[in-house]
Amino acid sequence: MSVKDLLIPDRLPRHVAVIMDGNGRWAKQRGTARVFGHKNGVKAVREVTEAAAELGIEFLTLYAFSTENWNRPKNEVDALMSLLVSTIASEAKTLMKNNVQLKTIGCRESLPLKVQEKLTSCMEKTAGNTGLTLVLALSYSSRWEITKGVQKIAEDVKKGLLNVSDIDGQVFSRYLETCNMPDPELLIRTSGEFRISNFLLWQIAYSELYFSSILWPDFRKEHFYEALIDFQKRERRFGKTSDQLILKK
Ligand code: IPE
Ligand code: IPE
Ligand code: MG
Repeated sequence: MSVKDLLIPDRLPRHVAVIMDGNGRWAKQRGTARVFGHKNGVKAVREVTEAAAELGIEFLTLYAFSTENWNRPKNEVDALMSLLVSTIASEAKTLMKNNVQLKTIGCRESLPLKVQEKLTSCMEKTAGNTGLTLVLALSYSSRWEITKGVQKIAEDVKKGLLNVSDIDGQVFSRYLETCNMPDPELLIRTSGEFRISNFLLWQIAYSELYFSSILWPDFRKEHFYEALIDFQKRERRFGKTSDQLILKK
């Protein structure tokens, strides 16, 4: 029996978010440049995307490049951007094969033009796919997203399109990059770091958090299944008592 067989099919999350971390340490352990770690992270992206698509998960959001990552050395940023260009081009076929639709969240305009072009063409190509939606968080940070959302709300109020008294959690969610997506039920972070690093702060209000010590380039389908199995063992109470949940069943 494989780990996958332990999954309860009707208790899978609709949306899983992943902070893919540990590429640099993976490379360092091998005495190689950090970029080598990023290159080897692509296989893990493929594995997790395929696993999520096969399981019928609706949304997979991968934190690929944060607003703060622009502060890394220029050669690393440049290498990451070139890797994005080559990966989007080479993985488009796999996305089509797995019926995956590509989307992005983040400040797309801040990405190099070549990256923007590749993204646009891959998003157009996969737009009709009806399986998993793969969301790449690129030049993304939660505070950037929330701040931008607040600006848009203020503009709509000024234009008379929105009443201040109508602003509630649901309305606010519609002004975020993730509008039309359910909140992630599960957030995974690899590499043994226990922090959120400015990722989906609003959306993870009630997410289950799963921390893996595996460095991202070593992350495989089995590790993803293990995270899902762990998730399925949790009792999600949303502020209620355990007894209340049992009564509802
Ligand atoms: C994650 O790996 C990839 C990105 C943030 C782009 P890191 O590059 O952060 O790897 P570590 O944390 O230095 O090991
Ligand atoms: C978070 O990883 C961003 C991505 C995975 C893209 P970092 O490695 O940049 O996070 P910190 O700086 O260690 O918190
Ligand atoms: Mg890191």
